[in-house]
Amino acid sequence: MLHVAVAGLGRISPCHVDAILALSPAVELTAVCDNNPTVLSAFLAKHPHVHGYLDYEEMLAKEKLDAVHLCLPHYLHVPYAIKAFERGVNVLSEKPMAITLEDAEKAVKIAKEKNLLYGVIFQIRYDTAPQGVKARIEAGKLGKIISASSVLTWDRSPDYYRASNWKGTWEKEGGGVVIDQAIHSMDLVNWMIDSTPVKVKAAFSNLGHPEMHVEDTAVGYVDYASGVRYCFYATNNFPSNEPVVLELHGTKGDVRFGYDDAYLSYHDGTKEEIHADTKDTFKAEGRPTYWGHQHDSEIRDYYDCLIHHKPFFLSGEEALKTQKIISWIYQEGRKTL
Ligand SMILES: NC(=O)c1ccc[n+]([C@@H]2O[C@H](COP(=O)([O-])OP(=O)(O)OC[C@H]3O[C@@H](n4cnc5c(N)ncnc54)[C@H](O)[C@@H]3O)[C@@H](O)[C@H]2O)c1
Repeated sequence: MLHVAVAGLGRISPCHVDAILALSPAVELTAVCDNNPTVLSAFLAKHPHVHGYLDYEEMLAKEKLDAVHLCLPHYLHVPYAIKAFERGVNVLSEKPMAITLEDAEKAVKIAKEKNLLYGVIFQIRYDTAPQGVKARIEAGKLGKIISASSVLTWDRSPDYYRASNWKGTWEKEGGGVVIDQAIHSMDLVNWMIDSTPVKVKAAFSNLGHPEMHVEDTAVGYVDYASGVRYCFYATNNFPSNEPVVLELHGTKGDVRFGYDDAYLSYHDGTKEEIHADTKDTFKAEGRPTYWGHQHDSEIRDYYDCLIHHKPFFLSGEEALKTQKIISWIYQEGRKTL
């Protein structure tokens, strides 16, 4: 039996807690940590058998943990991952793995030296449609990919930022719409294209959130060594949270993602649709649907790899590829804000 903990009991934490509870008895939720006493007490009232801590280091010192899930503000991801690695504890971190590329590389290096499994949550990669499209790209069905685009139009009200002591800040969130929201679509495109980025151009603006300093809107493109150009637009100024519109265009066909589905049009005139298969996923009760439903799949896979000593699909090394693009976009975009 593996003993695991969740650090940070905020909005995303139920996706982790429910997935861990579903893996019992192979994986047991032994401890949780949140430095907000009200949040911690509310959790322990519902889960009286779990040990609760206000202090992360005390939890690591007192519990004999196999893994810890980091559901914390971004600036804590790397320092808290390293504290865990130093005690021989495996880590599954929420996205982004870090605020800077240097920090991300440091965490990957330490996990490797200590032979620990470092995973990063990019749960949308586990959805049926992205998996199906990736398989078709690898099988050559879309031909050579030429271009890609993503358009994210989401709603993050001033109250969303005012209610948080870390969102909307450079120091603690590391940015705005790119590092927090658009990172998922950028990760998907980067994974599908699977090439080295050679040029990044980005322009940022803050059009509707005077209460914060980071970008609420970003446009730009990434050129890849394979010749693909990926153009992106992301804004948190929309009045609703709409499905990200993501397209890939190849020499033999095109694909357009809907929310959980993908629509493929081949140049020979045939069409294909891939629909979400949610039969073995949790109902996302009380959770925004645009988060995707696949935390449970990724967490199940992480423990399968940990238990059976298998390489993990979304390892720190894999997540670094997306962190590199995100960091490059910030390097370019911040010059324009
Ligand atoms: N994968 C996804 O789709 C998805 C969706 C939402 C959020 N997230 C990610 O999840 C992470 C957490 O986001 P959230 O929206 O749940 O944030 P949140 O602010 O709701 O929760 C963070 C929690 O961490 C606690 N905390 C802060 N500092 C702490 C410390 N030093 N020690 C212990 N606890 C501490 C806070 O009290 C809070 O309860 C972020 O990385 C975010 O990007 C991912």
